[in-house]
Order: sequence, then structure tokens, then C-alpha cells
Amino acid sequence: MKLPPQLQADLDSRKLKLIQACDMDGFVDTADVVTVPSWPEFMHHDPVANNWYTMHEMYPEFQFALIETESEKWIAVGNSIPLHFDGALEDLPYTGWDWAMLTGIKADKPANLFSALAIQILPDYRGGGLSTIMIKVMQEIGLSHGLSKLIAPVRPNKKSDYPLIPMESYIEWSRDGLPFDPWLRVHHRMGARILKVCPEAMRIHGTIKSWEEWTGLSFQSSGDYIVPGALSPVKIDFENDRGVYIEANVWMLHDYNKKAN
Ligand SMILES: CC(C)(COP(=O)(O)OP(=O)(O)OC[C@H]1O[C@@H](n2cnc3c(N)ncnc32)[C@H](O)[C@@H]1OP(=O)(O)O)[C@@H](O)C(=O)NCCC(=O)NCCS
Repeated sequence: MKLPPQLQADLDSRKLKLIQACDMDGFVDTADVVTVPSWPEFMHHDPVANNWYTMHEMYPEFQFALIETESEKWIAVGNSIPLHFDGALEDLPYTGWDWAMLTGIKADKPANLFSALAIQILPDYRGGGLSTIMIKVMQEIGLSHGLSKLIAPVRPNKKSDYPLIPMESYIEWSRDGLPFDPWLRVHHRMGARILKVCPEAMRIHGTIKSWEEWTGLSFQSSGDYIVPGALSPVKIDFENDRGVYIEANVWMLHDYNKKAN
């Protein structure tokens, strides 16, 4: 895909090139080198994420990576999905990420917007502003398909340090007049606005043994547990041999019709 000159120059100056899933076979498996270390293990067990391969087959242009030009090392991966939504964006469903994935896969009506699903950067390459470039590339992909509204069930990346605080309160926190959370801050700086919290963006469940394997923790009685990387506690229920994690995210909107981002 041809990028606008400034964005292409940003990639060139970092010695990076863009590749989309439509450009090669096996993109989804190769991308694991970035995606797997980007998430706590339990995040890979959202049942809705089983549609990951289908999504790549249906929308290969919307899945992309940045690769070092010389070494061909994969360093960042972005995923989004076109979908149709009728109605006011303030009424976007409370099931955030899961809803976006399922609605995009259903594809029963022509898409009128697209949703971010993930941006992942290898740990050693974080903190250098690459995520802004990733969002700009995502934007260009949408625009090249005539989609000027990008919605995002944003997962605030520092919320896991404050798992007992409700998301509604957390998104009000600020630092120097900007959102406190670094990932919310990136979206905000690029002109996105918060629509609302989506309280059940992901629902991950499994047996207690599965949760022990996913987290490395020992669960020996029922209760709410703080788990590394989780944005809120995981509920462990011994009577039903069940652990349930419900993750709240934040619906944000980048509207490329309205302003330059
Ligand atoms: C979230 C993520 C994409 C951000 O990418 P990034 O390239 O580090 O982003 P930036 O360099 O633009 O940094 C964004 C902000 O986070 C801060 N930041 C970056 N790395 C940080 C770290 N390890 N700890 C604390 N803050 C950090 C930066 O200082 C910056 O803050 P600023 O607003 O004060 O400048 C990246 O951390 C990542 O891939 N995380 C794992 C997957 C994930 O959570 N994705 C987001 C949900 S889809």
C-alpha cells in the first residue's frame, strides 16, 4: 500500500517497512513473534479470539506489521476489522472487543466504519513513539477502503497497576492535563475522544487448573484474585471449578472526517 509521503518518511527514517497480510502467506503465524510476548497468557484465551484466523482470511489488508528493512525483524503488528454499525456511536455495545470481532466476521452489511483490535510492539521497541505511527498506518488502511471512522475498544495499558479501581474512575485520572494512562494519552494526542467505557469488552473463562497454568499462581479457595496483567480481579469459584475474568475497555473514536489526526 502506498502511504502518504510524511508517513513513509517516518518509516524510512526508522528503517522500517510496512507489510500487510495480503502481501505474504503465513502472516498470522509469523506475526506471533510480536503478538505472543505482548500479552499476558490468559489474554490469548478469549473464546472470541478463536476467530483470529478467519479475520485474517477475510480482511488481510487490515492486518499489518512493521519490519526492520535490513534485518527483516518483525517489531510491531496492528490489527483492525471493518464492520457495520447503525446508530449513534455513543450507543456502541458494552461488549467492546468481542462485539467488534464478531460483527466484523458476520459481515452481513457493508462496512461503514472499522475497529482497532490490537497494536502490539516488541518490548525493546516501546517508548519511542512507534505506536503513533502504527495508528497512522491503521488510519491510512481504513481511508484506502473509504472508511473514515476508526473506533477502538482501547485497553488502557497501565490499568493493570490499579486493578481495584473502576474503569469509569480510572479514565478520569489525569497527568499534566492529559489522560493519566499512557495508551489513552496516545489516542487522545492523536485527536481521538472517549465515547464511554465498554464494561464487558472481553470475557475469559476456564477451569481453575487452566487459570493456574495461565497465571503461574496457586488458587486454593474461592474469591477475587489480583492477577499480573489483568485490569480487574479474576473471580475464582471452586464450587463450579471456574475462573472468570471480565475486562472493561474504553470505546474511543478517531474521526478522520472531522479533524487532522
Ligand atoms: C501500548 C503500546 C502499543 C504503546 O507503544 P509505545 O511504542 O511504547 O508507545 P509510545 O512510545 O508512543 O509511548 C506511549 C506512552 O507510553 C509511555 N510508555 C512507553 N513504554 C512505557 C513503559 N514501559 N512504562 C511506562 N510508560 C511507557 C511513553 O512514555 C509514552 O508516554 P508519554 O505520553 O508520557 O510520552 C505498547 O506498549 C505495547 O505494545 N504494549 C503491549 C500490547 C498492548 O497493550 N497494546 C495496547 C492495547 S491494543
